[in-house]
Amino acid sequence: MNDLRISPSVLAADFACLGDQLQSVANADLLHIDMMDGHFVPNLSFGPLIAEAAARSSDLPLDVHLMVDNPEQYIEEVASLHPAFITVHYETTVHLHRILSLIRSLGAGAGVSLNPHTPVGWLHPILDQVDLILIMSVNPGFGGQEFIPASIDKIRQARELVGQRPIAIEVDGGISIDNTPALVTAGASILVAGSSIFRAKEPQAYIEAMRRAVRS
Ligand code: DX5
Ligand code: ZN
Repeated sequence: MNDLRISPSVLAADFACLGDQLQSVANADLLHIDMMDGHFVPNLSFGPLIAEAAARSSDLPLDVHLMVDNPEQYIEEVASLHPAFITVHYETTVHLHRILSLIRSLGAGAGVSLNPHTPVGWLHPILDQVDLILIMSVNPGFGGQEFIPASIDKIRQARELVGQRPIAIEVDGGISIDNTPALVTAGASILVAGSSIFRAKEPQAYIEAMRRAVRS
């Protein structure tokens, strides 16, 4: 069994009381920050300003997910928040090797995210540059969507592809305690969950229950 990390998605938090909301998930392992530009995805969320406020209100390492065109433009500013990972979408750049190298050179882990239609095998030539593979299990852009079942097979493929390399396999979208065991069995090591965690009565207890679901 892989060591499981849970990364609550701030997108599902109540921004009117962000500080309290972030304290309510303080027992998580990472804090997932969804930046959206209204171009790559049909929605706007927030940029580095809110991410910086979140970083100040939480001790959790940041897990930044850039759903933006021209991600090159934002890497330096985002890296100044000292995140654990910066993840860009495979579909948003023709210079993936360059951007992953830049992320690493700025001290963050380099992540690549794949839309539901993007084949896992396309990462093969670039694996030495990658610290994290993010399998999107919904179409990126919105929280609260239904999990796409074919994602399980992509997680298995990613696990097989990385072999012994120290690359995290993250899954994002439609994740709750119900599908947690299947995702981890398939090979996921980081689970992103927005609605299920922030809508739980007690988010910390929910996170603990996700961990228990995997152990049992
Ligand atoms: C979707 C985002 C997700 C989203 C997940 O584009 O990347 O991180 O917040 O939300 P839930 O867990 O509600 O599907
Ligand atoms: Zn995300």
